[in-house]
Amino acid sequence: MREKLRHAQALLQSVVTSDWAGIEEHARQLHAATADPAWVVLQTPAYTRHTESFQRSTAELIEAAKAHDMESASLSYVSITLSCVQCHRQVARSRIAQKAPSAGALSSLTAR
Ligand code: HEC
Repeated sequence: MREKLRHAQALLQSVVTSDWAGIEEHARQLHAATADPAWVVLQTPAYTRHTESFQRSTAELIEAAKAHDMESASLSYVSITLSCVQCHRQVARSRIAQKAPSAGALSSLTAR
């Protein structure tokens, strides 16, 4: 999971220096990371949606790098970053939901 951060940081460096080969390489690595079984931490529709949007943005960035299109590359970079944050927020929310006592557990406490 830490690898993602390394590639995302390297991406910023490549984008701001117009290093097209670097952009393509790190976008490919991020795109490939979604094929790792370790990527699938949750099996929920929301997690799948975040994964698909991450795959779309990394694929767009690869295309932008090939076309040397900086407008599109910088927009894709931003949507990848948004994707990181949005997926993490969703994962944190679902973990909090799992830890919350169920309604049944609460009513058994108040019944006493
Ligand atoms: C589709 C969901 C998803 C996306 C998109 C995503 N992540 Fe994550 N990330 C996770 C999950 C889930 C974990 C926690 C894994 C665990 O706890 O088992 C995680 C963990 C991490 C961690 C480790 C955090 C820690 O406290 O050790 C880092 C760093 C990280 N992600 C960086 C990124 C970066 C950078 C991006 C974007 C380039 C990104 N992630 C995109 C789901 C996602």
